[in-house]
Amino acid sequence: MFFLSMKKVLCVLLVLANRIVTNATVTYTVPASAATGATALDPAPVGLSFEFFAFPSYFKNVTATNQCLQNFETLTGTWPPIRIGGTTQDRATYDPNTSAYVVYTVAASTDAPAALTFGPAFMTLAGTFAGSVVLGLNRGHDNITNTIAAAKIAKSSMTNLLAIELGNEPEYWSGVQPIASGTWTPATDAASQDDWDIQVGQALSTQSIIQAGNSNSAPPTWGAAELISTENTTAKSYVYDYAHHNYPGGTLTSLMSHSSISSNVEIFTSDIVAATSVQKEYVLGETNSVSGGGAADVSPAFGAALWTMDYALRTSLANIKRTYFHHGTIGACYYCWWGRYDMGAPYYGAYAAVAALAGGSYISALDDGSTNYAVYIIYDSARKPLRALLYNSDYYAVGTGTRGSQSFVLQGLTAASVKAKRLTAAGAGSRVDQGSNPTFGGQTFANVTCAIGGTEVFESTAVVTGAATFTVAASEALLLYLQ
Ligand SMILES: *[C@@H]1O[C@H](CO)[C@@H](O)[C@H](O)[C@H]1NC(C)=O
Ligand SMILES: *[C@@H]1O[C@H](CO)[C@@H](O)[C@H](O)[C@H]1NC(C)=O
Ligand SMILES: *[C@@H]1O[C@H](CO)[C@@H](O)[C@H](O)[C@H]1NC(C)=O
Ligand SMILES: *[C@@H]1O[C@H](CO)[C@@H](O)[C@H](O)[C@H]1NC(C)=O
Ligand SMILES: *[C@@H]1O[C@H](CO)[C@@H](O)[C@H](O)[C@H]1NC(C)=O
Repeated sequence: MFFLSMKKVLCVLLVLANRIVTNATVTYTVPASAATGATALDPAPVGLSFEFFAFPSYFKNVTATNQCLQNFETLTGTWPPIRIGGTTQDRATYDPNTSAYVVYTVAASTDAPAALTFGPAFMTLAGTFAGSVVLGLNRGHDNITNTIAAAKIAKSSMTNLLAIELGNEPEYWSGVQPIASGTWTPATDAASQDDWDIQVGQALSTQSIIQAGNSNSAPPTWGAAELISTENTTAKSYVYDYAHHNYPGGTLTSLMSHSSISSNVEIFTSDIVAATSVQKEYVLGETNSVSGGGAADVSPAFGAALWTMDYALRTSLANIKRTYFHHGTIGACYYCWWGRYDMGAPYYGAYAAVAALAGGSYISALDDGSTNYAVYIIYDSARKPLRALLYNSDYYAVGTGTRGSQSFVLQGLTAASVKAKRLTAAGAGSRVDQGSNPTFGGQTFANVTCAIGGTEVFESTAVVTGAATFTVAASEALLLYLQ
């Protein structure tokens, strides 16, 4: 009898434990209005970076590009900001006499060129884009005459020019680039940046024109605080903003983990404070999941889409004004949001982030970033809650047992019911090119054209005495429309 009843008790406990694992609950109260500490949002925080040599091909030879960018504009009314740059900006020489966008030769179409030239048409093409453009020019070659010649054409032919970068990831130049032929340290690079910022700014007769920094190695060794400490008032006057690069890497599980994303973004806290203390913006000028074009087993997967979504919101929360997701060599780019043929799963995460942030003026998080579960609130210009984004970053892969879920109880809701769009896929490993398309609000994006397809699905949840429960499966997110 005794043993039997113990067994019963154990059974009940096991059932309870199982329910806690698969269907735990977190409860939060949605503030009636944005707190004083809520972060102000850029009109278009989700940007794209295009590798310098590949930029003309993306815009002239890849059908999806314009529609993929326009889909964001349809959501927000603002074209996403773009940045043109990368390693090949410091391999590029401006040639005023070529009519081509870019001129180079490579052994294989998936190679990046070791050297290239570009003509005025490159800047004319960049000037046709309807959103803002940050243009990365060459400092590595140590030919400021050539860079100023290109900068002048950029200034005169691009009404959308937001800023110019002078050099990409200078910490890797030692033994590679002529400008780094002597001693090359954070301090010598900073002195070089300050000098070039002043010379290029003066040649253009334009202040607030340089996107400075552009390192990838983590601060404080390379970063905005270190750079700013070397700048006098003159150098500072030519800086528009400070940028850093970031490729978190790791496994798919660690990449998409909300607590990992939160701690990764915290690396930049001191640099963000340093930039804002001199009244400048701070951005991630080049970023994506894994460096070097991505990792085959991580970057094209739906889990990387969830990373893209959460990271775009977490960086915005941290007062990183714009985050430019890098797009490299066409046909050799695991993290790319689209290619010539197939869409990439990460585009769905970017789209969900843009949908969450669209028209928002402020953002706050209700969670502290220490768990796998995220709750963001996006507020309108009157500081009223506009949307909420719920993210369950528990890792679930197809074929690994029952998919768990997390219940989010939200209190303080004012409407009678809440509409929602779900970002989901069969599992974190789902890839478009392997036949497993994610969906956002039931919709997909067509290969080659990037046209949105399928019927838009809104879920509806009743609000009872100001509260509602939303269930989000492992490796899934839910966007709530609060107005
Ligand atoms: C587009 O592709 C064609 C054919 O592959 C090529 O000749 C042309 O140079 C490309 N144009 C750009 C801008 O990349
Ligand atoms: C461009 O062409 C002009 C003559 O048309 C020539 O004088 C000049 O040296 C050329 N510049 C370059 C960079 O090739
Ligand atoms: C630097 O650029 C200028 C202008 O484009 C060019 O005339 C000159 O030859 C370049 N100098 C070197 C050392 O390449
Ligand atoms: C500011 O620093 C630059 C070097 O970065 C120097 O050439 C310039 O003279 C300095 N200006 C002032 C006003 O001190
Ligand atoms: C895109 O193409 C892949 C095959 O490469 C296919 O598995 C997938 O279903 C297609 N996506 C859509 C939305 O049609």
